[in-house]
Amino acid sequence: MEKKNEEQLYQERLEKHIDEIKWLYMELYDNEPMLAELLDQLKNWYEKRDLKLKASDRERERMPDWYKGNDMLGMMLYIENFAGTIKGVKDRIDYLQESNINYIHLMPFLDTPEGRSDGGYAVSDFRKVRPDLGTIDDLKELTEACHEKKINLCMDFVMNHTSEDHEWAVRARKGEGEYMSRYFFFDHFDIPAQYEKTVPQVFPTTAPGNFTWCPEVNHYVMTTFYPYQWDLNYKNPRVFNEMMYNFLFLANCGIDIMRIDAVPYIWKELGTNCRNLPKVHTIVRLMRMICEIVCPGVLLLGEVVMEPQKVVPYFGTVEKPECHMLYNVTTMATTWHTVATRDTRLLKKQLDIVNDLPKDYVFLNYLRCHDDIGWGLDYDTLKTEGFEEVSHKKYLNDYFRGLTGYSDSRGRLYNDDPVSQDARLCATTASMCGLETGIRDKNEALIDKAVNLDLTLHAFMFMLSGIPVIYSGDEIGQLNDYSYEDDPKKADDSRYVHRGAFDWEKADLRHDLLSPQGRIYDALDRMEKIRSREIVFMGNATVWTIDTEEPELLAIGRYYKKEKIIGFFNFSERSKTAHYSEDGAFLDLMSGKETALLEPEIPAHSFLWLKKSF
Ligand code: GLC
Repeated sequence: MEKKNEEQLYQERLEKHIDEIKWLYMELYDNEPMLAELLDQLKNWYEKRDLKLKASDRERERMPDWYKGNDMLGMMLYIENFAGTIKGVKDRIDYLQESNINYIHLMPFLDTPEGRSDGGYAVSDFRKVRPDLGTIDDLKELTEACHEKKINLCMDFVMNHTSEDHEWAVRARKGEGEYMSRYFFFDHFDIPAQYEKTVPQVFPTTAPGNFTWCPEVNHYVMTTFYPYQWDLNYKNPRVFNEMMYNFLFLANCGIDIMRIDAVPYIWKELGTNCRNLPKVHTIVRLMRMICEIVCPGVLLLGEVVMEPQKVVPYFGTVEKPECHMLYNVTTMATTWHTVATRDTRLLKKQLDIVNDLPKDYVFLNYLRCHDDIGWGLDYDTLKTEGFEEVSHKKYLNDYFRGLTGYSDSRGRLYNDDPVSQDARLCATTASMCGLETGIRDKNEALIDKAVNLDLTLHAFMFMLSGIPVIYSGDEIGQLNDYSYEDDPKKADDSRYVHRGAFDWEKADLRHDLLSPQGRIYDALDRMEKIRSREIVFMGNATVWTIDTEEPELLAIGRYYKKEKIIGFFNFSERSKTAHYSEDGAFLDLMSGKETALLEPEIPAHSFLWLKKSF
């Protein structure tokens, strides 16, 4: 009986999407046998799916907004940095729970060649865990243990490329045509030269150019990222099918959220910039339907590190959705611009854009992640505010390396490109806020200032709709780690400055309220609990910005079901008065005290969360 129900359920799901799948697949590949194989395999992966996961799929189908609540809180972490191995992470679930986390993004952990791994983003086997981290069985055990505690697990699905050590690449290097056709090979530089005219570079200094010479076969191979990351050719239906089987294999290990790495790059056309091409959306739409048929509990998180106009199309449309969630990357970069300039105008404008988007778009909000910060700001608007692109980027990079008089930040440049005069920046939140300088100089006033700024930025992030994601270590104000500079395999890639080992000794100070670690941990804990308790933080609340007549102050309002909150965030080192008042009794959510909202004074680098009930 149960079996029959399952079969029926599958048919219903398939029925809903089959016409569109056929249509899109034939449009892409015009290949009936490969389509038939794909459909057979979908059924096969569904049958293999664990019963508990199937039950959770059904529950999530019944509650499609299950991930949109105000209680979702993410953390991204490197397994080796946090707990050594996957088993180690399982042993540390208590710490994550204590830190209010119910969504863990495990940074890349699949097999990858040491020293040619791009932090794990060069996968040599999509079905094998890096041996020093554990096994697929460990992963399954971890997902099960997490699910018992209602924690979701996210992983990267690196679909744009494979490592040069992946079996396909190895066989391609032996000259096997079948495998060469899974990548982009050229026997002459003519065509690559044409691509180079229109395709920008991702790593202009650490990995210049988009092609790599492959002497074994006397061909050039396309390598948009590092030379050891070979771009997959999705014009070949075998690539699409096999990658979908890999996807379903990983989904069946119990992964809840798949982060589609570098998704804008997956389709290439000569004469274009090879970014965000229409067929990328065809593929993501196919993936969404495949998920809805085989594993409807799994969410797609698109990694689109671009301006809002390019990000939003990845949500798809109401009838034809693509990704469930996307990163709020421009808000992140604009927040740091605001820290460096004390000028909230651009951030306010950016928030107005995001606040106007449909409420069912779910954004992941973050201050820092494993990657550099690219200064992708709205320079047209900045020009009207008196900032010029090249000199402003230089200012930001100088500021966050502590090279200007007003800055206590510490950081490293990333991909400093003399041609475009562009460079990005790497550092942890706390080091960017000045905590590293404060601790190094034993300067209590500076430590205070850094802790306050750090907390104000988190309070601001928690005020936004969507899912806040904390970068592991930020909850205890972890500083930059410069040890990568002595490791020849890492020294070239300054992103390792913010990928240091989690400092468990510092974490032990988290309940010591006199330590910076304890002050940050405790305040974040209180904010997180408030956020998950107060419905005004729900993703579908109405959100707006408020003009306080003070450019260094940002004010945001949220309203939901007769509850309202006004948040004030002071980005300056001076106390500021918000020229804003409202009748009625408010509750200061952090202090728990009743208060009036009458032109409040916001201390330097501080914030206020004031709530009113109607
Ligand atoms: C994504 C990752 C980044 C990696 C790149 C190539 O952008 O976040 O770390 O270098 O993809 O896979």
